[in-house]
Amino acid sequence: MKPELIVAIDGPSGAGKSTLSKRLAAALGYLNLDTGAMYRAVALAASRKKVDLSDEAALGRLAGDVSIDFIRQDSGERVMLDGEDVSQAIRTPEVSLLTSRVAACAGVRRAMVELQRQMGAKGGVVLEGRDIGTVVFPRAEVKFFLSASAVERGRRRYEELKARGLLVELEQTIVEVEARDAADSAREHAPLIQAEDALVIDSTAMTIDQVLQEMLRVVELRRRQAGLAGPVAGADR
Ligand code: DC
Repeated sequence: MKPELIVAIDGPSGAGKSTLSKRLAAALGYLNLDTGAMYRAVALAASRKKVDLSDEAALGRLAGDVSIDFIRQDSGERVMLDGEDVSQAIRTPEVSLLTSRVAACAGVRRAMVELQRQMGAKGGVVLEGRDIGTVVFPRAEVKFFLSASAVERGRRRYEELKARGLLVELEQTIVEVEARDAADSAREHAPLIQAEDALVIDSTAMTIDQVLQEMLRVVELRRRQAGLAGPVAGADR
């Protein structure tokens, strides 16, 4: 049997990647890999273990030592760090800021990219991140680059944090989104850039469903081109 596709979704924070990656993977019966959650887990581990963030060698060692896994539960996908469910703990604004710094470390990226390649090697997977189509799987059969204006992305992040009961301000959230964009785009290792062969979708004025339909249309087309006609396996993986 031909292997199913590798789908890469890259783009800045707040463009809707997480939601769309989950929905697309569910619609296709593919595995969903949130690579940002992996960098967040390393940042959380670094903060708990009080690793000096300017010590690149120590950060790289830490990334190689920790165990990061995803498990599926009725409540959704959970992120496990050394066997502990950290799905909530990695989503605070503090961890978001730390993650930008930790993700700039070459040793950390090496360890995470290796793990992501192992997890996605068999295909039938949607990977969501910043460097999936350029570094992790440059030969992915489908590459999306999802974007939206900074103001719209800041607004979405604000609504998300507020819904989780966190006390935040809209202006401040927009400033933070812009600061993280700048850090992610300017860093030396695997900066956020668009793969040349990625399909760009600007979601500023689109609903989640509209973007999902567009993505499904492209994936189905590529599946047919790859000789994978017929419905996807749809297995609950
Ligand atoms: O997608 P997110 O907001 O959960 O990502 C958290 C941080 O990790 C963000 O600063 C970008 C970084 N990241 C990265 O450098 N490479 C990835 N493949 C995914 C995320």
